[in-house]
Parts: sequence; structure tokens; C-alpha cells
Amino acid sequence: MNTLYSATVLVLHAHLCFTLSVEVVKSNCRDPEAAIVFIPAKDIHGDRYIPLGKIKQQHTWYDTYKTLLDLNSGPRYDGIRLRQAEEIIRRSDLKLWVAIFDEQPSLGDMPLAFLLAFTHLKTHGYRGTSTFLAGHGDGGLVAARFGTFSSHILDGVLLYSSYLPSGSLLNKYPTPVLTISGDLDGLTRVTKIVDIFEELQADMAQNPTQKYKTPVIVMEGVNYGQFAFGKLPWWNVEHDLTPEVSHLDAYHSIADYTSAFMVSARNDTKTNVTAAHAFLEQGYSNTQILLQPLSQVKALDQNTELISHWTTTAQQFIVNLLNSTSVEFVNHETDSENSGKEKQPNPSSLTDDFQIVSSTSIMFDKRQKYSSVFPQSPVQLKATMTSQEVVRKMIGTNQFGDPASCQDINQDAFTLAFSKSSKTAQSRYQAKGRPIKFLDDVNVSSKDQWNRAYLHLTYNNTGLFVGATRFHTTETNSDSSVSGQDDCTLLSPYRVMEWIYIDALKNSKLQIKNSV
Ligand SMILES: *[C@@H]1O[C@H](CO)[C@@H](O)[C@H](O)[C@H]1NC(C)=O
Ligand SMILES: *[C@@H]1O[C@H](CO)[C@@H](O)[C@H](O)[C@H]1NC(C)=O
Ligand SMILES: *[C@@H]1O[C@H](CO)[C@@H](O)[C@H](O)[C@H]1NC(C)=O
Ligand SMILES: *[C@@H]1O[C@H](CO)[C@@H](O)[C@H](O)[C@H]1NC(C)=O
Ligand SMILES: *[C@@H]1O[C@H](CO)[C@@H](O)[C@H](O)[C@H]1NC(C)=O
Repeated sequence: MNTLYSATVLVLHAHLCFTLSVEVVKSNCRDPEAAIVFIPAKDIHGDRYIPLGKIKQQHTWYDTYKTLLDLNSGPRYDGIRLRQAEEIIRRSDLKLWVAIFDEQPSLGDMPLAFLLAFTHLKTHGYRGTSTFLAGHGDGGLVAARFGTFSSHILDGVLLYSSYLPSGSLLNKYPTPVLTISGDLDGLTRVTKIVDIFEELQADMAQNPTQKYKTPVIVMEGVNYGQFAFGKLPWWNVEHDLTPEVSHLDAYHSIADYTSAFMVSARNDTKTNVTAAHAFLEQGYSNTQILLQPLSQVKALDQNTELISHWTTTAQQFIVNLLNSTSVEFVNHETDSENSGKEKQPNPSSLTDDFQIVSSTSIMFDKRQKYSSVFPQSPVQLKATMTSQEVVRKMIGTNQFGDPASCQDINQDAFTLAFSKSSKTAQSRYQAKGRPIKFLDDVNVSSKDQWNRAYLHLTYNNTGLFVGATRFHTTETNSDSSVSGQDDCTLLSPYRVMEWIYIDALKNSKLQIKNSV
């Protein structure tokens, strides 16, 4: 892991077919040996998908294989791809073999593709009976899915800038699995990895060794492209962020974590498993430090108690009591499906303390579920709150400041998110981030309008524009079900944090156009 080993790297271009040509890279003379089969991200060789796409519609995979034998695909490898494999081999404590598919096989093709790659490794001298399976980006999804029903031939799965598909749990996965990415990844957002890391943390409460079996690592300053095995297609480039570490440094980190994970998963007495565990342990603490601010702000609204702490703060800003010692603020979250139908919050005096109850519906963009390219945080918090007038009447003192507008509260969400961001994230944002601007509230006057209201988020070249909707009713509204409310479509502090950490750093026109 720590010493560079000057090995002769033998590269064999075994072009069996278009989709499945494998490069077998064999190297250092260490023992024991291990092998990795790599699945690239889709579209990594974008040009090559044009003929393939056409052929695939008419043929089964095997027909495609035969047809493509006739195409003059020629031997191809590029510096980056090889460099990556070489680096992993050099820095490994294992005698390592690597086979890389030229193109991403589909899940249906995988059993045959894997067999072919494995046969190649054997032909070239690999003596093992199982291998690791790695995948980059959506290639990781193929690897993870294939791994669920092929654990008997796998030592483990490596997810580069990728993660287990929803429905698969780390602690139920049949093989060890490494999830590794960078915090400047614009395709597999760090906010997606926050969810996976939180899952690991919960698993570790049951079993502390889970951090060796299913490590989740985020490397600072690394982006999506730095895992790549080849030139990235424009679509990836447009979503990715500018890395802050050199390609070589990124390769070193990836190689070291890969190596430590493999040594740990193999648990072979001939290797220094203790050192591998120590390395993964360090990776765990670094990741925890990196993700903690995001987790903390996420938990303001996404938590098991189903309380929007941010709405409670907003409600306090609206009431703006100068002396709130005898007042209790309570919030509950409601199902977004039933938004507007829930019981209206009303101040009550169940306890000695005067209670002010608000309710919040947390809303997500549905694209967030399908792809980690889209923001993972809520698009809005639709908050139903009590107006200051009602509270004034109930407690009858003069100790009130001016009530906050929705715009004021959203601005405070930014202040909070920025203050909670890491020093690195703050300085990146100050150096490169586009600004966030808060527009005047749009007032609506009927319950029906409020039910349809949403937070306007406009992402463009100038920055992010946030426009809230406010529904402020009098104490004696003709529709008594909404009397005394001061409702806002609120910006989630976690959404602002995602803006600070990721979206604000995108620069090209296309990036911005595609960003949200
Ligand atoms: C690793 O191997 C050691 C001894 O060889 C054994 O005690 C330990 O249980 C193994 N750990 C795992 C996770 O299999
Ligand atoms: C394993 O690595 C640790 C350092 O991480 C070292 O202290 C220890 O001596 C090594 N053990 C062996 C058997 O090489
Ligand atoms: C705030 O209210 C509490 C209870 O009503 C009272 O005891 C306290 O003196 C008040 N504080 C100020 C600064 O007015
Ligand atoms: C919206 O209502 C608030 C008070 O409820 C008021 O201060 C503000 O001027 C109104 N905005 C517009 C555009 O009418
Ligand atoms: C971005 O959107 C805001 C709000 O809609 C608008 O005022 C601004 O002119 C837009 N900027 C560009 C460059 O389109």
C-alpha cells in the first residue's frame, strides 16, 4: 500500500469482440494474488455506442458479438485508463490482475461477459477462483446488481463514484462492498453519499467491523472524471465539478483505498490485514469529518422524529417574541400527498406553557430518486404557521419585534447553511460560487392558491433566485379554517448547502442549464 513497486506491466489487447474486449494488465510478483474485473461507465466511449445502439436492437448479445467481430475496432487503450490500473497494481500488496471491458456490458450480458473476462485472466496466468468486480458510475450499478446473485464467484464489489441501487442494503449485501467517491463529484453527488454513509453509521452501531466490510469513503478534492478509464463524454464533463487534486494524487488515493479494501476482504494471513484495517479506519474518520456538516443540516428536516426544526425556527422569527420563556414551539411533518388537508395548527394551552404549533410538508423533486445527478435535498418546505397577531392576542404583552417575511427566513436559511459548511466548502464558494438572491414574497389570498403554491427556485448563469409564496390570513378570515395563519414556502437549509457545496460551483452554460 505504501511503497511504490517498479513492476513490468504487461498489456494484452485481447479483442474478442466490440463490446467485450478486455485488457489484461498483469503485474507485480507478490503473493497472494487477486484480480479485478472493471466495468466502465456507460458512454465513456460515446462514439462507439452509435453503431452498437443500432445493432443491439436487432440482435441478441451473442449475435452482436459475432457481427462486431467484422468491424474494424482496432486495439485501443489510452493513457488514463492504463495509468489507473497500473497505479492500483503498483500500490497493491497483492499480486493483482486487472481485466477491463472496453464497453459497459448490460446486466443481461454480464454472466457471459464476466465468464469471458475471467477466462482471459486464467488464460494469462491468474490462478485464483474468484475476483473482485469494480464499476465506475452507472457501471457500478451493473456491478452491484450482478454481485447480488454472483457472490460465490466474487471476493467483493468496488463502487467507484457509485453506490448500491435503492433496495440493496450494505449490511445485507452478500459480499464486501467498497463505496468510494470524491466530494467534487457532480454526477454522484456527495449528498447522495451522505445517505449511504448514514446507513453505514447505523450499521456500525450494531457491528463496528462493518466499516471494513462495507466502507464508504469520500475523498476531498476529487471529482467523477478522476475515476475514469478514458476520455469522458460531454454529458459527464458538463455535470462534473473542477477537481482540486491532481489526477495522479487522485489515482494514488483510489489505489490505496482499493488495495486496503481488497486486503481486508481477502483477510489472508500473508498480507498485513491490520494495516489495511487501519487505513480504512482513517478513511472512515476523514469521511465522517467531511460529511458531518451535511448530515447535521440534513437532519434539521429529515429525521426519525418527523419534526422540521427549521420550520420551528421560522415560526419563532414570525412571532418574534422578545421574551419567549413561557412559550413552547412545536412542529410536526405531514405527508406531502395530503398537503393542505391536514388539521390546521392552532395555538393551545394544554400545558402551563403556551404552545405554538406549526406543520410542514417536505417536498422532493421526483427526479432525485432516479439519478444522483439531480439535487438530493428537498425542493421546498411548505410550512403552515401561526401569525404574530394571534399570539399577540393570546398572550397580550407588547414584547414583540416585527414579524419576519418568508424572504427574511429564507435568507436566514442561507446564513445558517453557510455557517455550518466546512471551511473548505466556504472558501470554494467564496472563490468560485455564483450568488444566491432572494426575491420579494409573492402574496396569495386564498387557501386554494396556497395549496398550489410552491417555492420558486431559478438556477441560471447569474446565480440561484429564490422566490417564496406567503399566505397571511387575518384572525377573522371568512374561511375560518385558515384564520390566523402566516404560511411560507420555505427554502430547506439542506438545499442551500447543496447549492454551496455543488451547484454554485458549476460554471459552463450547459452545466447550469442541466444542473436543475
Ligand atoms: C480474518 O482472519 C482471522 C484469522 O485468520 C480470523 O480470526 C477472523 O475472524 C477473520 N475475519 C473475518 C472478517 O473473516
Ligand atoms: C503491519 O503494519 C503495521 C503498520 O500499519 C506495522 O506496525 C506492523 O508491523 C505490520 N505487520 C507485519 C506483520 O508486517
Ligand atoms: C420573561 O418572561 C418571564 C415569565 O413570564 C419573566 O419572569 C421574565 O422576567 C421575563 N424577562 C424579561 C427580560 O422580560
Ligand atoms: C405581501 O404582504 C406583506 C404583509 O403581509 C406586505 O408587507 C407586502 O408588501 C406584500 N407584498 C406585496 C407584493 O403586496
Ligand atoms: C436569472 O433569473 C432571474 C430570476 O428569474 C432573472 O432576474 C435574471 O435576469 C436571470 N438571469 C439570466 C442570465 O438569465
